[in-house]
Amino acid sequence: MRLSLSAIVLGLSGLAYASTNASTTLTSSLSTSSGVLEIPQGSTCACAKLSQAMPQSFILPGSQNYTTETVDSYWDIRADLSPACVIVPSTAGEVSEAVRIISTCQAKFAVRGGGHMNYPGANNIDAGVLIGLSNLDAIEVKNGSVDVGPGNNWYDVYSALEPYGRVCIGGRMKTIGVPGLSLIGGFHYFNNKYGYAMDNVISYDIVLGNGTLITVTRSAHSDLFWALKGGANNYGIVTRFELRTFDVPKISTTIQVFNETHIPDFLSAICEAAKLDDEDPIAAGMIATITYNATTKIPQGSVLGVQAGVSMPPSQFANFTKIPATERINNITTMKPWADTLDSPKQTMRYFSVQFSHKTMKPDAKVLYSIYSAWKDAVDVIADVQGLYPTFVTNVISPTSIRVAKTNGVGNVWGLEEEPLIIWQFSTGWDLAQDDIRMEAWSRQLAEHLHGLNNKLGLASEFVYMGDAGEWQDPFAGFPGKNVDRMREIRSAYDPAGVFSILSYGGFKLGL
Ligand SMILES: Cc1cc2nc3c(=O)[nH]c(=O)nc-3n(C[C@H](O)[C@H](O)[C@H](O)COP(=O)(O)OP(=O)(O)OC[C@H]3O[C@@H](n4cnc5c(N)ncnc54)[C@H](O)[C@@H]3O)c2cc1C
Ligand SMILES: *[C@@H]1O[C@H](CO)[C@@H](O)[C@H](O)[C@H]1NC(C)=O
Ligand SMILES: *[C@@H]1O[C@H](CO)[C@@H](O)[C@H](O)[C@H]1NC(C)=O
Ligand SMILES: *[C@@H]1O[C@H](CO)[C@@H](O)[C@H](O)[C@H]1NC(C)=O
Ligand SMILES: *[C@@H]1O[C@H](CO)[C@@H](O)[C@H](O)[C@H]1NC(C)=O
Ligand SMILES: *[C@@H]1O[C@H](CO)[C@@H](O)[C@H](O)[C@H]1NC(C)=O
Ligand SMILES: *[C@@H]1O[C@H](CO)[C@@H](O)[C@H](O)[C@H]1NC(C)=O
Ligand SMILES: *[C@@H]1O[C@H](CO)[C@@H](O)[C@H](O)[C@H]1NC(C)=O
Ligand SMILES: *[C@@H]1O[C@H](CO)[C@@H](O)[C@H](O)[C@H]1NC(C)=O
Repeated sequence: MRLSLSAIVLGLSGLAYASTNASTTLTSSLSTSSGVLEIPQGSTCACAKLSQAMPQSFILPGSQNYTTETVDSYWDIRADLSPACVIVPSTAGEVSEAVRIISTCQAKFAVRGGGHMNYPGANNIDAGVLIGLSNLDAIEVKNGSVDVGPGNNWYDVYSALEPYGRVCIGGRMKTIGVPGLSLIGGFHYFNNKYGYAMDNVISYDIVLGNGTLITVTRSAHSDLFWALKGGANNYGIVTRFELRTFDVPKISTTIQVFNETHIPDFLSAICEAAKLDDEDPIAAGMIATITYNATTKIPQGSVLGVQAGVSMPPSQFANFTKIPATERINNITTMKPWADTLDSPKQTMRYFSVQFSHKTMKPDAKVLYSIYSAWKDAVDVIADVQGLYPTFVTNVISPTSIRVAKTNGVGNVWGLEEEPLIIWQFSTGWDLAQDDIRMEAWSRQLAEHLHGLNNKLGLASEFVYMGDAGEWQDPFAGFPGKNVDRMREIRSAYDPAGVFSILSYGGFKLGL
């Protein structure tokens, strides 16, 4: 049965939605590629009220705008779902009003920033209300900081800072969203000197569960200020981030590719980078990965390194530079053109699904190599999967990167000690939906098995980075228990009704 929105909202005086065009009617059910969804009462209520309160920012199924918001805005095709309606606020006031309406109606909802979190439900919702933040795209460069709306990606921000010769601590690739990454941590090239993205947020404007908009700083709502440093989407919708900026007019970059023979040395150089503990570090970091082609059986290591300044080749990558490489390109450039070449486009193929799984360990080059080898062998077992795209990813956590939060008087929810860690991750892509379950099982079982071996060796850390976690992982279990208790207390104070826990249930949640 089809209900005309105008009938629900406006009764007989209806003017706004007189047409029966598919993009202007709310239906009681929604046909999707995965079946028919019944639209719950809460959604019907919220969509009706939202359409009336902010018609300019309101989208129903059946329109091109709906496809833009529910498909084109997601990185991983697995995250494409079918909301009953979409709201695309262009002011913080509209976000407030939307949250008020949604909670009054007790509608279920999801929030999307840059859309890179890659599992179903983290940032999208079937038959509920989707709040898409793309229109909150203001950027204002200030002296020593930049105000950024959650509709921006990191390339937008780096581009705005470029004329001033400044950078901020954000994502390492072009199209990753500002809000998700800033709220969950933020691995950047310069973590070793400046800490993580979350450590460099000076203030947040946030809409709470009751629709109230507050500004959160070190001194105003200091408890929430701390909880937002890694607390993800558990507290409200951030409508403005003020990010600290740094004077980095030039960067020295290196791209190096290594063949199989040199992978042990490559992994060893990564372990050494994690251990660096200079008193006054030179800002430098990397993306270090190994791809393996299960057809040709050829693995290939690569490092994309960035260092502040003009040392060429970049001194902090000397341990890589001394390994014979099949390709090596050093350059002096700036952040904007560098990020421009590192795109991670959304919805690349008709079927493009990626499973993340990772674990953390103390640096040990021999053991890291054995983990890589076990991964490669396990990839061979699934070589028949159509479109298989397996990547072994590492991220380093250096003691100096942790020291920033330890000494800035604020801290963050991770509560890590100043010791070197390495995250080893499987990022596995494939083509067909029928392989979803197989791929998740493969990835999860392998990660858990190898982590178990690390446990026996005394090398395992329970830290899990929310940004790169598979949906089966629990990042909160890796935080100190007292931090999680405190996060929950803060949630009770700022969202006593549980709007961001019960009504918005997707993503990494503290739990009820
Ligand atoms: C190709 C690729 C490269 C990556 N590279 C990096 C990297 O270099 N460094 C790194 O640290 N991480 C990286 N990540 C992980 C990345 O940090 C996460 O995917 C992150 O969620 C991206 O933020 P987003 O805004 O795009 O995500 P979204 O999917 O839009 O949001 C993520 C979560 O935050 C919530 N959320 C979004 N906006 C808001 C808001 N304004 N207020 C409250 N909650 C909100 C969403 O509901 C969702 O649960 C990468 C991921 C991919 C896929
Ligand atoms: C809805 O109306 C718009 C413009 O009026 C039109 O472009 C579109 O094709 C219509 N959609 C459907 C499904 O009829
Ligand atoms: C719908 O798409 C058009 C064309 O891209 C755009 O101008 C308009 O703002 C969109 N409407 C909403 C509500 O997002
Ligand atoms: C920032 O402040 C410094 C010191 O007060 C000043 O020299 C500089 O010109 C200011 N820059 C901008 C962009 O306002
Ligand atoms: C890798 O390159 C080295 C030269 O640096 C060469 O000796 C070696 O055979 C190559 N290994 C493979 C597996 O191609
Ligand atoms: C390079 O490796 C050596 C050990 O071989 C280590 O002492 C040094 O700190 C490393 N340097 C860098 C910049 O990673
Ligand atoms: C080196 O950097 C310059 C300046 O950004 C850029 O124009 C050039 O394309 C870069 N060269 C390579 C090989 O990346
Ligand atoms: C692996 O190599 C084959 C043969 O060269 C190629 O067709 C395929 O695209 C490669 N796969 C990946 C993931 O690069
Ligand atoms: C909204 O919630 C906050 C945090 O719980 C509270 O301080 C504030 O008084 C509430 N505002 C209203 C209007 O209820």
